[in-house]
This record gives sequence, C-alpha cells and structure tokens, in this order.
Amino acid sequence: MKDIFHPPVLLNEAIKFLKAEEGGIFVDATLGGGGHTEAILRANPENRVIAIDRDEEAIERAIKRLERFGDRLSVYHANFAQIGVVLEREGISSVDGVLFDLGVSHFQLRGERGFSFWKDDPLDMRMDRNQKLTAAEVVNKLSEKELADIIFRYGEERFSRRIARAIVNSRKKKPIETTLELARIVESAIPGKVRAGKRKHPATKTFQAIRIYVNKELESIELAIPEAIEKLSFGGRIVVITFHSLEDRIVKTIFRDRQDLKILTRKPVVPSDGEVAANPAARSAKLRAAEKV
Ligand SMILES: C[S@@+](CC[C@H](N)C(=O)[O-])C[C@H]1O[C@@H](n2cnc3c(N)ncnc32)[C@H](O)[C@@H]1O
Repeated sequence: MKDIFHPPVLLNEAIKFLKAEEGGIFVDATLGGGGHTEAILRANPENRVIAIDRDEEAIERAIKRLERFGDRLSVYHANFAQIGVVLEREGISSVDGVLFDLGVSHFQLRGERGFSFWKDDPLDMRMDRNQKLTAAEVVNKLSEKELADIIFRYGEERFSRRIARAIVNSRKKKPIETTLELARIVESAIPGKVRAGKRKHPATKTFQAIRIYVNKELESIELAIPEAIEKLSFGGRIVVITFHSLEDRIVKTIFRDRQDLKILTRKPVVPSDGEVAANPAARSAKLRAAEKV
C-alpha cells in the first residue's frame, strides 16, 4: 500500500494543552502514523517522546518517518494499558504529558485488515496481529444473544437483535468471511425506511461494535487512563481525543472522579469547520484535557 499518513486530528489543540513548547518528557500512547509525536518533538528541541502502539505495522512505518529525531524518541510495541511497565523499562518515574488519540488510524482503515465496509477484505479487525481473536471468529462462533449484546453495547445499535439473527441465519448456510458479506447482511436486517433516512452507512455501528469487542478497546482505556494520570508529574497534563460517545463517557467520568486533576476543558474541544472539511474523519473527535494538581 502507498505511504499515506494519518492526518493528525486536533493537532494544534493537543500541542497547546500538552504545553509541548515548554519542553519535557511526553508519552504518545497511540503513535499511529506519528503525526502527533512529530509535532511534540518539533515543538521544543529538548522534548523526548516515549511512544506506544499495539500495531506493529504502524510502528515500522512511524519509526521510518521519525528516524531523524534519533534517541529523542523511544517506541514500544505494547498495549497502552501497559504504560507503567513501558516507563519502568525506560527508567522514568514521571512525565510532563500523556496523549491518547483513540480509535483506528487512516492506515488501518485503508489497509486490508477488514476494518472498513467500503472494501472487501477478510474479516480480521485486529489492531495487534499477534492476538488470536478475529472478527471472523466473533461473527461465526458467538451465540445470537452474545452477538446482539455486543452490537447493542458497543455499537449502541437499536436493531442489534435483528442484526444478530440475520448473522446467525446467514452463517448456517456458509461462514461469513469478508467485510462486504457482513455489511450486506447487516444492511438486510435494518428496515428499508430507516436505511433510506440514514446519513451513515447502515453497517457503521455494527462494525464499530465488533472492532471494539475484538480489540477490547474500552477495557484498555479504563485501565490506561488512571495509570497515565498516576505517572504525571505535578502540573503534567493528560490529553485524550475520542471518536465516539462510549470512549468519551469513560474519559469524562474518570477525569470528574479524580481529586488530583484540574479539568482544563469544561466542554470537550471539537475540530473547527475547516478541519472537518479538510479531514472528514475528524468530525466526531472530542478532546478533553486535565492537569495533575
Ligand atoms: C487514531 S490512531 C493515532 C494516530 C496518531 N495520533 C497520528 O497522528 O498518526 C490510533 C492508534 O492507536 C493504536 N491503538 C489503539 N488502541 C491501542 C491500545 N490499547 N494500545 C496501544 N495502541 C493502541 C492503534 O493501533 C492506532 O495506530
């Protein structure tokens, strides 16, 4: 695949909230294409970044892109829930800022791992390919009730039961192997009137749900954010960019319930119209930031 970089979302806002220009040690918990990491490293020549991603392909590409920063950048293939272990390995007890830019990258969506219903690929959806569970196993092996629960809980899809039933009926005839097969099954389960009135692709919520389940995304966030806050020095900042309400709710609740945080964004910061026009993938982004006190 051609080298297309992920356009970093809310970049200037993230750099400002991290106070990256003032210098320090930062963690980019979601390296991806390396856009935010690069901006942090450029913001001050003294800055160091410890970057994490669970996707080995993303890491390989980002390391190439960021080679020129030499030992100012350390990269770890890990789940960001292991942020404490990573920092221990670096011999660092506290940091000045941590950034999470959640969700999937442009590269993952455009690749051949079954994240997108716009093209036909095997149903995989693993961010970390060392993991065993794939989307194909989820749709072909879980019970109808389990599928309905996943699609309802992680997709907030009101037609979850109908979709689960359609999946189970279809796989009786033959296993569901590709993204387009799954997208068609989901589409057929949603009433025509609703389908016609929707702006989004009818499979959007179901794909989101299966991806979240396969990658245990919400569990990782719930573990990682408190851990990241623990590692902040006083005055250090945490910045989290989310892409749907389930993620945003977790961040909002964790920030609100901590006594050692000053919330810097009473309402989440969202991209400008200009950013959304240039990068439609940014449209649902929300940034929340807080300072350790
Ligand atoms: C939206 S992209 C980040 C883009 C990046 N900020 C940039 O500017 O290019 C999200 C990245 O986070 C990674 N990721 C998601 N969940 C993760 C987790 N639990 N642990 C580590 N990396 C994760 C994904 O593999 C993906 O590469």
